[in-house]
Amino acid sequence: MVRYLAAAALAAILTSPLVLADTPTCGPGKLCPQEAPCCSQYGQCGVGAYCLGGCDPLFSHQLDSCVPAPVCQTADYKLESLDDVKSIDTYLGDASKINWVSQGQPVTYNNALLLTMAQDTVGTLLASTHYVWYGKISAKLTTSQGQGVVTAFIMMSDVKDEIDFEFVGVDIGHAQSNYYSQGVTNYNNELNLTVSNTVQNVHEYTIDWQPDTLTWSIDGTVLRTLKRADTWNATANRFDYPQTPSRIMLSLWPAGLSSNDIGTVNWAGGLINWNSQYMQNGYYYAMVQEVNVQCYDPPSGANTTGSKSYVYNNEAGTNNTVAITDDVEILASFYATGENPNYNPNAAASGSKSSGAAQATQSLETVPGMSGGGNRGAVLGLLVL
Ligand SMILES: *[C@@H]1O[C@H](CO)[C@@H](O)[C@H](O)[C@H]1NC(C)=O
Ligand SMILES: *[C@@H]1O[C@H](CO)[C@@H](O)[C@H](O)[C@H]1NC(C)=O
Ligand SMILES: *[C@@H]1O[C@H](CO)[C@@H](O)[C@H](O)[C@H]1NC(C)=O
Ligand SMILES: *[C@@H]1O[C@H](CO)[C@@H](O)[C@H](O)[C@H]1NC(C)=O
Repeated sequence: MVRYLAAAALAAILTSPLVLADTPTCGPGKLCPQEAPCCSQYGQCGVGAYCLGGCDPLFSHQLDSCVPAPVCQTADYKLESLDDVKSIDTYLGDASKINWVSQGQPVTYNNALLLTMAQDTVGTLLASTHYVWYGKISAKLTTSQGQGVVTAFIMMSDVKDEIDFEFVGVDIGHAQSNYYSQGVTNYNNELNLTVSNTVQNVHEYTIDWQPDTLTWSIDGTVLRTLKRADTWNATANRFDYPQTPSRIMLSLWPAGLSSNDIGTVNWAGGLINWNSQYMQNGYYYAMVQEVNVQCYDPPSGANTTGSKSYVYNNEAGTNNTVAITDDVEILASFYATGENPNYNPNAAASGSKSSGAAQATQSLETVPGMSGGGNRGAVLGLLVL
């Protein structure tokens, strides 16, 4: 649902008091300016967390404005506590210390995490700090229920290649499988997969992503296969096949808001009822029990000069423009960027600190989707597929 939400997101951003009026936007044909070099996945320019996960190198000031993406890590995440989860407004990029970042309100419950969505919030998003460049990714989860409520388990790259399992709360007998290439809208790619009651039953949803084939499975049964060879797009002169390093994302979000595009609302089965029988303790929730990641070897022919991060070295944003390097950057502050990772206007001992620079930073966006302090993440759900 990239297009719908991109449109909805833009509307939300433009009217949101949380985002500075003069925040530059970015997208095809429009790169971020030098002072706010990082293009967030929501199409806005900023510094700090804007340069971390989701930073789109193609529309940022330079390809290296975004921080190099931590490489795939084979792991079994039990998600029994919040110890391995940090809110994105406290994460500066050290993926060796934390494996998940959140927006919204994750809650622990019975050795699992609940993604919650209380009245008038935009839900919760959990994203991996490590990327996957081909691998087998499984999540054991239950979904939320009710019209307008969408649960998602997806892979999304910084250039917006995407592999989806999505669950609309009015249809608890299907998982919608989908994929996108570089954010281009094509709804013909959607396919409903039949599954027994996604709310009552914990199922294991698996994305097996290889350079040539991609499968969607539920409880070990392959229900859909996509071959790269079948995705050639002659207009774009590339395969419309997910082919770039992607983060794992799990989310619960309100598609059924009157402020959203009508197509989105209809897709999700209508407007959300905030007095629903499906809410408990004041919120809708989806439960994530475990996420398992098995990394595959990098594709043969990959430009490999290291083993720590993925970077893009060309604006095409295709598989051949991804390099594996040893570049690691941890931001010194929320005003730092991939181009200037050590910048910290508040560092006491910083000789280079000038009041002018410090002042200038005050008008920059530092955390996508939740700046401004108060109503945290007010635009989050609109921005998340
Ligand atoms: C999938 O199911 C939904 C209802 O849950 C329906 O609106 C949609 O058209 C179906 N998609 C396809 C491709 O059959
Ligand atoms: C092929 O790529 C072009 C350019 O990105 C895009 O506009 C078009 O929708 C794509 N075709 C399909 C079938 O997705
Ligand atoms: C990238 O994809 C092309 C097909 O478009 C393939 O021939 C090539 O081997 C791939 N390269 C890498 C590094 O994955
Ligand atoms: C390989 O990647 C490195 C690091 O990004 C880059 O400097 C170099 O130009 C790339 N080589 C090729 C052949 O693309």
